[in-house]
Amino acid sequence: MKIGILKEPDFEHRVALLPEAVKALKDMKIDILIEKDAGLKAFAGNQEYEKAGAVVVDGNKVKSDANVLLRINPLKEDSLAELNDGQVIISVFNPLSDKEIVDAYLKSNQTAFSMDMIPRTTRGQAMDILSSMATIAGYKAVLDAALKLPNFFPMFMSAAGTIRPAKILILGAGVAGLQAIATARKLGGIVEVFDVRSAVKEQVESLGGKFVEVEGAKEDSAAGGYAVEQDEEFKKKQKQLIHDHASKSNVVICTAQIPGRKAPLLIEKHTVEAMKPGSVIIDLAASTGGNCELTENEKTVVKDGVIIVGNSSYPSEMPNDASRMYGNNLLNFLKIMIDEDGELQMNFEDEIIKGTCMIHNKELVSDRLKDFYNK
Ligand code: NAI
Repeated sequence: MKIGILKEPDFEHRVALLPEAVKALKDMKIDILIEKDAGLKAFAGNQEYEKAGAVVVDGNKVKSDANVLLRINPLKEDSLAELNDGQVIISVFNPLSDKEIVDAYLKSNQTAFSMDMIPRTTRGQAMDILSSMATIAGYKAVLDAALKLPNFFPMFMSAAGTIRPAKILILGAGVAGLQAIATARKLGGIVEVFDVRSAVKEQVESLGGKFVEVEGAKEDSAAGGYAVEQDEEFKKKQKQLIHDHASKSNVVICTAQIPGRKAPLLIEKHTVEAMKPGSVIIDLAASTGGNCELTENEKTVVKDGVIIVGNSSYPSEMPNDASRMYGNNLLNFLKIMIDEDGELQMNFEDEIIKGTCMIHNKELVSDRLKDFYNK
């Protein structure tokens, strides 16, 4: 079997596999074709891929010869006609928020697996690209905030007087939020955290953050560990408490999301107006609407002296380790589908293979997707 890696779009600096992962696949009797220069922005050159056993070719050859294509950003509708019937594409389709791409692939003759749909089970952990990329986003968000903030993070007692430590408010204590807490604490900041899932309180406290509880949060054990939409009364109470804490904070890191829905609006315009000039808001939920009313996706705006960064691309800004983590997750996923002769076996009885498969034979496969689109 041949696996192909294509160049990602210009804005993307990551690549689906680094040479080290290529080597592991070669050991599994797989041939690898990689488009020339596909790894350059992730600091992996053509020679390194060749040394690991890949064949460097042009993009058309990858598309025509590979049985399986590995991607980060999906191939769009217009590229599908260039592919062979039955080809398998493994990518991040975000099918819960991108209905257009789901519809396009439903008309195609390819099989599509979406890495963001890996079930969040113990067995799925080693393949979970959402966790890997959220870890990077949480870390980079805090570093970016520290660079933009006109103040220190740690407390300083110097001959020039005492500098108070920065206060960091983190909204959402999922994977990105927990990493943000750890990073902000390492830099010496004081950290407060909001989440609607009470289960995270202990984790927040073990990392040195203070968990601010809003009573009456709705939780659903059937939501697979994810948050669910809250009622209006809770939202009002939460916004007021966040307003009180945000107005005393130097940095707010927003990570609160609900899969398949618009991100919850937690920071309204009047809260930004109440914040100190020079404060920084980093909104990691920007691509799904943002937790802050004034966030603009992929833009940095300044309102009343408050810097608001809407960045959903931090993993691409750390392309080497991001590609390493993404590639390792892919490798672990491929391992459960590749037999000892190096051939692909899509066993849809396996909950991970089924749960990650977006479309096969022009039909939705994952139950979560079927439920979401009521098919
Ligand atoms: P996410 O990116 O969907 O959301 C981030 C955080 O925002 C979550 O903690 C969520 O509770 C919180 N949030 C949502 N609405 C909110 C609101 N209105 N106010 C405040 N906070 C709000 O979450 P992520 O990082 O993808 O993790 C979700 C869950 O999945 C966690 O329980 C995590 O432990 C679990 N998980 C399980 C894995 C596994 O077992 N393989 C791997 C990774 C995560």
